[in-house]
Amino acid sequence: NLIEAAKTERMECAVRPLRAGFVAEIDGINLSQKLSVEEVEFVRETFREFPVLIFHDQSLDPPALMAFGSNFGTLAPHTQLKYRVPDYPACSLVTNREPDGRVDEFGQNSRAVAFHSDGSFKAVPDAITILHGIEVPSSGGGTEFADCRAAWDALPDDWRQRVQPLKARHRLHKGVSGTPGPAKRAPEVENHPGSVHPVVRTLPESGRRSIYVNPVHTECVEGVGADESRELLAALIAHCTAPAFRHVHGWRRGDVVMWDQRCTLHRAAGGAPAGEARVLLRVMIVTGEAPV
Ligand code: SIN
Repeated sequence: NLIEAAKTERMECAVRPLRAGFVAEIDGINLSQKLSVEEVEFVRETFREFPVLIFHDQSLDPPALMAFGSNFGTLAPHTQLKYRVPDYPACSLVTNREPDGRVDEFGQNSRAVAFHSDGSFKAVPDAITILHGIEVPSSGGGTEFADCRAAWDALPDDWRQRVQPLKARHRLHKGVSGTPGPAKRAPEVENHPGSVHPVVRTLPESGRRSIYVNPVHTECVEGVGADESRELLAALIAHCTAPAFRHVHGWRRGDVVMWDQRCTLHRAAGGAPAGEARVLLRVMIVTGEAPV
């Protein structure tokens, strides 16, 4: 087993679980350099067990972050054009800095605050997202994750039987939460007709199941009435985001956090002091896998 081997052999990497089967830190890999085959395999294997991985004290520019992300699939430019980094469209920014460099004091606690899974409205959704902390606030401003595999594991049997055969329609910002639609920024957004995915997806490498709905992009459950659809989605989302399945990552400058979009939800937890900059560099990765 590579995780064990790494503790004793050539690689100096170590895994520190923060939440069993959900969140872990990896020490001892410099992500700004080309990773060795062993290091990539080590990260991949650890990622299968822990769908949220944290690397501290890194310093990556856009090409280096893109190179790291490319180890795990194909980079997917962000749907909203305005977030893309000039000259590096596969890289995007989560930022409260305006183009003139000033911090937008009002916007930073209101972006991406509802739980979601990136790109669930695409036929082949994003599989992995990686964020890198460039400027981080002195407190608050974390990214919160919810473990949808654990949520499935804990779902009562009668609910499992009810929801397992169902499919849901996902559309960009048309989810049940009523998150504002992209109308006013339409010219800046790639056109997406939406997609239908299983409500419960199976991860091919492990056979584990994961609930795959979110309040930002999941519009309705197919084949049931509007009331039942709302009730089902509200119940599943409340279950997935129950405190037992959540973990907040508090950012330190230089952190790199990568997570598996197939089996987690995430959101900006907010709560950073007004006026403090929060700038994260991001790459998103597709692996060609449509949810099944
Ligand atoms: C995102 O939803 O990708 C951003 C999360 C964050 O700002 O913490």
